[in-house]
Amino acid sequence: MRKESILITGAAGEMGQALIYHLSERNSPNILALDVNPVPDKIKKRCRQAIAGDILDEKLMDRLISEYAIPLIYHLAALLSTRGEFTPEAAHRVNVDGTLRLLQLAAEQSSWMGRTVKFLFPSSIAVYGLPNLETKEKAGAISEDQWHMPFTMYGCNKLYGEHLGRYYAHHYRQLAADSQRNQVDFRSIRFPGLISAFTLPTGGTSDYGPEMLHHAAQNIPYACFVREDTRMPFMAMPDAIKALTMLGDAPQDRLSSHVYNITSFNPSAGEMMALIRQAFPDAQVTFQPDPKRQKIVDSWPLDLDDSRARHDWEWEPDYDQARAFDEYLIPTISKRYQ
Ligand code: SER
Repeated sequence: MRKESILITGAAGEMGQALIYHLSERNSPNILALDVNPVPDKIKKRCRQAIAGDILDEKLMDRLISEYAIPLIYHLAALLSTRGEFTPEAAHRVNVDGTLRLLQLAAEQSSWMGRTVKFLFPSSIAVYGLPNLETKEKAGAISEDQWHMPFTMYGCNKLYGEHLGRYYAHHYRQLAADSQRNQVDFRSIRFPGLISAFTLPTGGTSDYGPEMLHHAAQNIPYACFVREDTRMPFMAMPDAIKALTMLGDAPQDRLSSHVYNITSFNPSAGEMMALIRQAFPDAQVTFQPDPKRQKIVDSWPLDLDDSRARHDWEWEPDYDQARAFDEYLIPTISKRYQ
């Protein structure tokens, strides 16, 4: 018999680790963790199995099909926006070919099991691209259907990933006699920058937020790579995980879209520094903007309109700016680096 499991790709990444922790606390499901990097031991022991492997490895994918029954996939593996600009073609392979392979796996699983496979996909604020600061300022909080002109390979890949998901959900093999056999229930969230008290992101462009905080907590000087007045939306990691599970749990007939914005707070880099200094008065932060990374963040919206998620699945963050810093980030991080 094939073992029934939830598949999580990108399991060793910061969202993967937080999600596995949360799901295993919630009801100890059978988690099958997959990542090119080894999953840390403390996370691994919460999984049924953790496999070190590449989502582009065909043999590995075939093995997953034959050994496991997978009714739910969290496809988190990706190369983020800064990393992707150093190796754009590699980013495309992981972010697009990898997503296509996982969607195909979902369709195959559905047809084997004779039931719908749910597919949760983290998309990103990077799908948006505003041409200049004046437009960004004027646009304010933008909704899902505006400004799809990404500046990065990662943003292009995520936008296309959403379309692939919609295609698999509605039109996959639409001319086949048995086209109804592959039911993929695709749901995605466009996340803002994420900040965790436990882990640091790798290769993103919103990384200045978490980096500033983790450096301050360890009393290490930090040169912030964007201007002090740079503003974009952020969210505390527990809210990101809450959103993924809320969207996963939402009844399908309540969902009016495959794509949802969510957001919580949007401090400028300077305001973020001020918040961090309240907790760590000796924090040594300087601003040394890197014009190229700055241009990427400047193309991202000032704020997101998340009313669609609020309406369809009652989304609401637990952590506004004050709570995120006072009750989650600062106390947890202080303890961690003590
Ligand atoms: N945090 C991501 C990045 O900076 C955006 O989704 O690439």
